[in-house]
Amino acid sequence: MMESRGELMDMDVNSLSLTGREGTGQVDVTFTATESNPSRENEGQANLAVTLVPVMSTDLVERQQQTRAVNPCHVDAAVSLIKRRLVSGHSSAIAEEGAESAILTEDAKINERKLFDLLSQTVANAQNNSALLLGPRGCGKTLVLERVLAEVQRKYPRLVSVVRLNGLLHGDERNALKEIAKQLCLDNELAYSKSSSFDDNLRFLMDMLKQCMLSHRTVIFILDEFDLFAQKSKQTLLYNLLDAMQSSEAQAAVLGLSCRVDADQLLEKRVRSRFSQRHLLFLPPPVEECFRILKEVLTLPSPPAFPYTAFASSFNSEIHNLLQQPTVQKLITQHCSVDLSPRHLYDLAFKAICNMDRTRGYPTVRDFQMASGSFCLQPKLVLLRDVSVLELYLLVAMKRLEVKEKESYNFHMVYAEYDHLQANHVHNSCDRYSRGVALRAFEHLLERELVTPADVRASVCDLMEFRPIKLLISHAELERGLKMHPTCPALLQTWFSHETVGHTRET
Ligand SMILES: Nc1ncnc2c1ncn2[C@@H]1O[C@H](COP(=O)(O)OP(=O)(O)O)[C@@H](O)[C@H]1O
Ligand SMILES: [Mg+2]
Repeated sequence: MMESRGELMDMDVNSLSLTGREGTGQVDVTFTATESNPSRENEGQANLAVTLVPVMSTDLVERQQQTRAVNPCHVDAAVSLIKRRLVSGHSSAIAEEGAESAILTEDAKINERKLFDLLSQTVANAQNNSALLLGPRGCGKTLVLERVLAEVQRKYPRLVSVVRLNGLLHGDERNALKEIAKQLCLDNELAYSKSSSFDDNLRFLMDMLKQCMLSHRTVIFILDEFDLFAQKSKQTLLYNLLDAMQSSEAQAAVLGLSCRVDADQLLEKRVRSRFSQRHLLFLPPPVEECFRILKEVLTLPSPPAFPYTAFASSFNSEIHNLLQQPTVQKLITQHCSVDLSPRHLYDLAFKAICNMDRTRGYPTVRDFQMASGSFCLQPKLVLLRDVSVLELYLLVAMKRLEVKEKESYNFHMVYAEYDHLQANHVHNSCDRYSRGVALRAFEHLLERELVTPADVRASVCDLMEFRPIKLLISHAELERGLKMHPTCPALLQTWFSHETVGHTRET
């Protein structure tokens, strides 16, 4: 029996076996050992108390974190709160949640205040106003407007009627007037007659404006896609509305929303002179501001808005770490370089939250990567994944012809190139197909629009196999397509990369 570790170290251990008792931290060690002095052979048994320190791989740690128990109710509550915030610009959401539900950029907050003051002047002081909310799509025009309308209606209950028109639906003045009459009837509990003429509706509108003014009620006209109204030649509706507002026969405000910054230049002179030159600009925020609002949107609030404090604090710290990761920062910056509008960013976050593994309880880098991937689908690569091996050969043959600077080629030349490869480089013949089969494959490429006739003016009666053709995919796309294809022969990839060296690669 060895008494101490030092003595054991001086000996040559011949055999050693360890047996453990589960959960005790005890290990029995059985060994035979020879001391440096060979005459003394020892045999023995030791009972050692050892502390087992698990050494886990990063993978294992990650998996353990994944399975860390999270309460599904807390996760569901967090996910639905964040999703609601991400779609909070919709009027129904604002009406339901109140104006506090959305998170705004600094510029949008300033515009919100200006717009609120403007509408308050109309409602409280009967000061008729008009303004244009201008800026690219997804930058908060509708969001700010809906928040302000909700706030005004809350502050001045029963003193405001809102009429909403959209240039895409009501660009035609006749339709627009009908819609206005319908909405005013609904708001004032009057019967609406579908058969009223344009003049009847115009008269009704003027009467209603006068009535509303007498009872100190404000009518707010919202003209979304304002440029479409302004592109009409006569602009009778706009003229009558603005004229009524000037002749103090109405207490009203007209707000136009447009992504054309020059929308007011489209107005006729007599209409433009009656329209105020008040513009509220909604421009895409800088990237830093995008990060700020994204973080704010993904951060869970404290009670009573979100009652599960412990979950919220661990979720928030995960979000903080996530947004610090260089991969996520790069991905968001790339995403913003395509479109800087907050809506575009929110779409990314919405997809990431939807991809999120609910058992884990918080979104990860992978969720953002998958969300981002789904935004930039490359249709040509998707098509290439499904083509047959023979079709891949034909595409590579065409690329080779292009590299050889054949300006114009047809199916027969492509087949000759393919046949040349098969004859000289391929020893097994399973990829060698007849001309007829190759022609079918070629037609399939035409159908999928990976290849197209080069001369569109040629007669349709010309046989396709003799018409000059051209490839509709780039070198880089074909290279990636070959790599991604599940059954692309290695030889074909080598052939492609070797034989097309020197080609200036497009990206
Ligand atoms: N400035 C902003 N601040 C915060 N969120 C914004 C902002 N702009 C847009 N969003 C988000 O994008 C969504 C769509 O914006 P929206 O107001 O419809 O854009 P627009 O009317 O300018 O095309 C909003 O519901 C909101 O979630
Ligand atoms: Mg809008």
